[in-house]
Amino acid sequence: MRSEKEYRDLVSRSLEPQLRSLGSIPEKLLEAMLYSLTAGGKRLRPVLLLAACEMAGGDLEDALPYACAIEMIHTYSLIHDDLPGMDNDDLRRGKPTNHRVFGEGMAILAGDGLLNASMEIMMRAGLQRNDMLGVRAAEILARHAGVTGMIAGQTADIISEGLPPEKDLVSYIHTHKTSDLIQAPVEMGMTLAGCEPWQIEAGRKYGYHLGIAFQIVDDLLDVTGDAAVMGKNTGMDENKMTWVALRGIEGAREDAAEHVRLAAEALRDLPWDTGFLENIARENLIRIN
Ligand code: IPE
Ligand code: IPE
Ligand code: MG
Ligand code: MG
Ligand code: MG
Repeated sequence: MRSEKEYRDLVSRSLEPQLRSLGSIPEKLLEAMLYSLTAGGKRLRPVLLLAACEMAGGDLEDALPYACAIEMIHTYSLIHDDLPGMDNDDLRRGKPTNHRVFGEGMAILAGDGLLNASMEIMMRAGLQRNDMLGVRAAEILARHAGVTGMIAGQTADIISEGLPPEKDLVSYIHTHKTSDLIQAPVEMGMTLAGCEPWQIEAGRKYGYHLGIAFQIVDDLLDVTGDAAVMGKNTGMDENKMTWVALRGIEGAREDAAEHVRLAAEALRDLPWDTGFLENIARENLIRIN
């Protein structure tokens, strides 16, 4: 296994070549897509995918297109999340949001483009394999990012604006808008490595708890964080049904810590060194401490 930085750098280096390899993309569209894709970001999802795959004995090179694909989907979700019709944000990854620079129409298309490119990249990688594992990995991402996954969560987030917080609904929003795209890379990486169903289920459970903790931390940082450090504005969630609105700052901190504990516990029976994944979960909490 490599370090987190090595995984992150590998993905960051591969994103643009993967995109360009699709063929002749209109210049303005490519520019808008690369603007957000190469702006940085923690690369949590692709790092999880590569680490889970290598932990389970899988091949890093084979997993790389899928790692790029999930970062493209995540970046598209951010571009669209920031649009005036959604969260209306003007700072992302330390830069003006996509629509502020390229206009709303081009930001919508850049998001659409990244979503489609991710599917194309995964399908192409799947066709080059002589097993079904690439198809399975692509299905996992399509489902978790889709209308029963991230898009369902974003829908609940939008239609809950201004309503008093309710436990089941906040859980639903966090599970789908965020946790689904954090479960997906762990499941994908382990699937590509040829893991058994019970092992993939343990990885999914880890991703589930890490994902919930991750969005609780994101909600906390909207209140307590520093925009200069995060590269996005704080105080944007006043009307949102967040974990902090439900449980207060102290309650949210406790719940985030508990979900990180449950994430590590989910890995207990796996036959490999799970230290890397446990550390990633713990690092997530350090952001609020
Ligand atoms: C932001 O995700 C959106 C959420 C799901 C909270 P990240 O915090 O992973 O954003 P980047 O990729 O580092 O910019
Ligand atoms: C975003 O949640 C989740 C997705 C983009 C799917 P938020 O709206 O809380 O993310 P930030 O705070 O804008 O990064
Ligand atoms: Mg949002
Ligand atoms: Mg937002
Ligand atoms: Mg947020």
